[in-house]
Amino acid sequence: MNKKMIACALGLIVAASVAGCGQEEQTAQVVQNTTQEQQAVAANATVASSTAANVLQNTTQTETQTQVTTQAGNVTSKGYKIEEIDGITYVDGVLIVNKTYSLPAGYGPGKILDEVQAAFNQMQQAAAREGLNIYISSGFRSYNTQNALYNRYVSQDGQAKADTYSARPGHSEHQSGWCFDLNTIDDSFSLTPESAWLEKHAQEYGFIIRYPKGKEAITGYQYESWHLRYLGVDLATKIYQSGLTMEEYYGITSQYAD
Ligand code: DAL
Ligand code: ZN
Repeated sequence: MNKKMIACALGLIVAASVAGCGQEEQTAQVVQNTTQEQQAVAANATVASSTAANVLQNTTQTETQTQVTTQAGNVTSKGYKIEEIDGITYVDGVLIVNKTYSLPAGYGPGKILDEVQAAFNQMQQAAAREGLNIYISSGFRSYNTQNALYNRYVSQDGQAKADTYSARPGHSEHQSGWCFDLNTIDDSFSLTPESAWLEKHAQEYGFIIRYPKGKEAITGYQYESWHLRYLGVDLATKIYQSGLTMEEYYGITSQYAD
């Protein structure tokens, strides 16, 4: 971490908002590990299922009942079951978070889920055998961390621009624990052999490139070569082979209501 990033992180800890920092998402990882808010999230951390990615999971230890607010039988435009349980949307049993579907502010496993970390470790080892170096730069981000990040981007670039690359609080996949950003979080990553390898092999380890090139109008975000979502090998392979985004595959939108 260079001096600028450290300054960024310290600034965020103190003021929760600093303009002009580079590598913001990496910085956020530092910040989230140090704030009281993060500790509070961790204290309330949900217990993640270690079973397949595409099953409902994350019931809390203290939770005794769930609230299903979408009637069974509701389906997406592609015919997949869509339901909302305790404010979280699942399509065909897979947790969805994008511009249309948000997570409750207090929701979050506090870290990347164990299953995701284990799959990453396998992928990292496979990449290393090819002489490539991949590492996680930003993993779990709480609602409050995302809020601080997003607001800083809005003050820097304006809301319309910020919305093309940063999720509003409650709408970031990073709050779910099912995704991470790798290596250098900017467009230069797409030019590296690591990125080329991931584009070809990520699905073999259960990951998809969540915001592909040319699909900005569908996912709602610019191409992010560094942002991978875990879905398990079977589902990730199906989506990879389909050439579709998650939104297209399931027949859902990614658009803010306002
Ligand atoms: N950069 C992605 C879209 C996020 O903020 O979650
Ligand atoms: Zn990301």
